[in-house]
Amino acid sequence: MLRIAPSLLSADFGGLAEAVGEVAAEADWLHVDVMDGHFVPNLTIGPPVVQSLRRHSGMYFDCHLMMTNPGDYLEAFRRAGADGCTVHVEVGDTAALLAEMRRLELRVGLALNPDTPFEAVAPFLGDVDLVLCMTVFPGFGGQRFMDEVVPKIAEVRAALDARGSAAELEVDGGIDEETAPVVVGAGARVLVAGSAIFGAERPWEAARRIRGAGERALAGPGPGGAHPA
Ligand code: DX5
Ligand code: ZN
Repeated sequence: MLRIAPSLLSADFGGLAEAVGEVAAEADWLHVDVMDGHFVPNLTIGPPVVQSLRRHSGMYFDCHLMMTNPGDYLEAFRRAGADGCTVHVEVGDTAALLAEMRRLELRVGLALNPDTPFEAVAPFLGDVDLVLCMTVFPGFGGQRFMDEVVPKIAEVRAALDARGSAAELEVDGGIDEETAPVVVGAGARVLVAGSAIFGAERPWEAARRIRGAGERALAGPGPGGAHPA
């Protein structure tokens, strides 16, 4: 099963509740990009915005914390209505952060940047509910998909399968109808897409097309299907 997670980063920040409504019919999760101006060179939103959005949507809120000190905010995100939080392995203190998310009954996510090797997350695979492979350097929407990350996605998939883990494998950055089959072929099952969805005239239709492209790849090779597993 595939999940589509539209990223609010490419939505109109002046009308976030409407933006959520535009994708609700085709979105499984809502991906919320939190940037602190330090871990990444951009600033976005924090717990108060999540709390406001919670009043407008019952959707699963998948909060991607691109922050140097996520531990200071996990409880605030939980109280604001986050369902899952994902911290970056590059910030360190990973075991403690994962334990704190578990204590707060958040879905526990761990992200890695395009140039961070699989080995950085390998020790934590037993403690997470989600691994997020970045397919762009975090900070901005609308960047080009980095296909050099594809072998690492396959590596994470193989490691999760080898340990019988049901953890989700999510990808984020440059996902559209063209790249969805590539990442699904490598083993991703949660597809984050920002500009490809909110940049479209009818966002929900764009989300549906990305899902269709991914599902054809899941179904295997054949007309419209692509990648051998
Ligand atoms: C990038 C964010 C992404 C971003 C993806 O730092 O983590 O979630 O919104 O945007 P697109 O899909 O446009 O690459
Ligand atoms: Zn993200």
